[in-house]
Amino acid sequence: MNSRNTPQLWDANLPQWDSDKNNVLVCCQIRQETHDVKSFFFTPQEASVFKFLPGQFITLELTIDGEIINRSYTISSSPNRPHVISITVKRKPNGIVSNWLHDNMKVGTPISALGPTGDFTCVLHPAQKYLFLSGGSGITPLMSMARSFHELAEDADVVFLHSARSPIDIIFKHELDLMAFNQTHFQPAYICAKVDKSPNWRLQPEFITEGMLTTENLKLSAPDFLEREVFTCGPAPYMASVRNLLATAGFNMAHYHEESFTFDELPVETQAAVQAEENAHHKETESHHNNAQTFSVELSKSGTTIQCAPDQFVLDAARAAGLRLPSSCSKGLCGTCKSKLVSGQVDMKHGGGIRQREIDQGMFLPCCSKPLSNLVIEK
Ligand code: FES
Repeated sequence: MNSRNTPQLWDANLPQWDSDKNNVLVCCQIRQETHDVKSFFFTPQEASVFKFLPGQFITLELTIDGEIINRSYTISSSPNRPHVISITVKRKPNGIVSNWLHDNMKVGTPISALGPTGDFTCVLHPAQKYLFLSGGSGITPLMSMARSFHELAEDADVVFLHSARSPIDIIFKHELDLMAFNQTHFQPAYICAKVDKSPNWRLQPEFITEGMLTTENLKLSAPDFLEREVFTCGPAPYMASVRNLLATAGFNMAHYHEESFTFDELPVETQAAVQAEENAHHKETESHHNNAQTFSVELSKSGTTIQCAPDQFVLDAARAAGLRLPSSCSKGLCGTCKSKLVSGQVDMKHGGGIRQREIDQGMFLPCCSKPLSNLVIEK
């Protein structure tokens, strides 16, 4: 194997990774973090260094069974290590992308990527004391933030409370404990739905609580939680319960930050429930759109044609018609919904989820585009 650890690497004044110019990453290492979680490390194909804020995400473009799928992952590594970037992925039942990554990604595999981007970062909210709350693989952006403090040798006052199914599901436990060893003010704590008293598991009972996140066990780790800047990431129901818990406790929600959209691949039943809710919401506005002039939107692969009002986002029109197009942020940020516009024109106000050269090639983001004419989309 050719080592990259050469005088040339350390001497070089490497340019910054620019996903608009060079968007190919190469997998350089895979680490098994827990029984169903792996970290994938990437370097730029053309020598360059990453620049991002801890907590940001990157969007991978994968071809799975002939379909191009865009999927965003928060970065788990810290920007202090600019030569590599890592994502940490939990295998999800029915998760097309997570299973593909676990089963197919190999050292040397090239992959297109967009970003990093996003505004979920402690850097933009400086505070004396932080509380990081994560559930499952939602730990990744908070880990990037914790690593950034640790690698800057700043003993920031951070309570990092992670919820997992069981002790063997705690991602990065050894590293969190090492950070606590190195830093007086860094306090990791774990809440596990079920604590397996297996003799192989070196339990540290003072840090692992059995049960769910409640005000009582939050107070055990962070009695001063009302004074802390809070960052939360995890499955949508977890974040909803954290919001509820904090609001009920009288927390000033101006100091609360959560990953504003979930990158998780939801189980099929959850997707169906979310979809039903969205359909109900869109039906409410349907009558308004029915009265307006509409444009036809033909999905060329599925042979379906729907109607879209001029003031309606194409993704919303598809959802209102009961179609499920891939999407994540619904804000033109992540690139998950990127699609080929075969014909027609749209008014697109994106937030960085697409490159100019992709737009020039006829791609667009249905979540932030309104039709200006009848459309044909390759879907
Ligand atoms: S869903 Fe994120 S860019 Fe469209």
